Amino acid sequence: AKVTLSVIKADIGGFVGHSAVHPEVIEKARGCLEGHPLLIDYRVVHVGDDVNLIMTHNRGRNSGEIHQLAWDTFTACTEVAKKLKLYGAGQDLLSDAFSGNIKGLGPGVAEIEVEERESEPVVVLMADKTEPGAWNLPLYKIFADPFNTIGLVIDPKMHCGFDFEVRDLIENKKVILSCPEDLYDLLVFIGAPGRYAVKRVFHRGTGEIAAASSTQRLNLIAGRYVGKDDPVCIVRCQNGYPSVGEVLEPFAFPHLVSGWMRGSHSGPLMPVAMADARPTRFDGPPRVVALGFQLANGRLVGPHDFFGDPAFDRARKLALTIADYMRRMGPFEPHRLHLDEMEYTTMPQVMEKLKDRFIDLRRDKKPKEKAAGGVA
Ligand code: F6R
Ligand code: MG
Ligand code: MG
Repeated sequence: AKVTLSVIKADIGGFVGHSAVHPEVIEKARGCLEGHPLLIDYRVVHVGDDVNLIMTHNRGRNSGEIHQLAWDTFTACTEVAKKLKLYGAGQDLLSDAFSGNIKGLGPGVAEIEVEERESEPVVVLMADKTEPGAWNLPLYKIFADPFNTIGLVIDPKMHCGFDFEVRDLIENKKVILSCPEDLYDLLVFIGAPGRYAVKRVFHRGTGEIAAASSTQRLNLIAGRYVGKDDPVCIVRCQNGYPSVGEVLEPFAFPHLVSGWMRGSHSGPLMPVAMADARPTRFDGPPRVVALGFQLANGRLVGPHDFFGDPAFDRARKLALTIADYMRRMGPFEPHRLHLDEMEYTTMPQVMEKLKDRFIDLRRDKKPKEKAAGGVA
């Protein structure tokens, strides 16, 4: 029988501010899922202020029942969050809940349905204070870069390469690009992670799913797109797929991602153990956690908390150095994101306030200036 692994996450209230999740909320989520007849197994964890439901079942992807269960769980958690007056209680569920920003995406979802192999190791990646496109660079390295994944070169089961399903988050389109042949084309798109994001990766030899992310279409709110929805990603490992070490290797380099403070800054993605997934400095820096599981007839054997390993100490150190450097840019780009990509802006109000003080240089050109320019 096929097994589906669903990872569904939502920010339903932060403790304190946007830093973490209160233990009572986690407890409530566990209470909702414990012994539920739809599920084979589950884990509830938090990364930053997001509650992550990791669930296995036989209902397949996009199961209404499973998604309802997740929704109901988040709703029950929201009650707890409200009681404790946690910050932004229910922010990803109720469009009328005030959280101080205009994120309106609802829960994020990553799901894979697999025929379990003799042994089925998977890694669940979960990030806070960044956007789904944050997976582009690591997924590229994991599945297309032989300098990261030597298996692409020397493992006969991987040598055929992988197919990337890329989503255009603004026009809601998708395209499949096959690596290595389409590698340069792939990079044209996924090098722009604010718009294009890798949704899924498939093994080209078998056509089987290799990875799935929580990339969703961005919401058009108040006339502009917002979508720094803290993402999750599931990656299958070993025996024809990248090894666990090849999946983790890209995170030894804390690449710059969009998000951080007010979803409006660029900063390093810092790999951390579960216990350290509580962004603090300038509400960050953005964090990523990697939990490993062995699936055993749907049972989640794990988690194994990979980034607790000292092998990632230097990545954390480098992330902090980069954070120091970026922070000194203050409100200037490229630390602060480009105008189109910020989650917060005062531009319309400031423009309105100053509209009488702006002088249109196109219309007010004096004849003298024109003469000076020497153009008739
Ligand atoms: C970023 C994030 C935080 C908040 C910031 C302001 O994704 O969640 O950095 O944007 O703490 O929050 P509000 O506007 O709720 O006061
Ligand atoms: Mg939050
Ligand atoms: Mg968050």
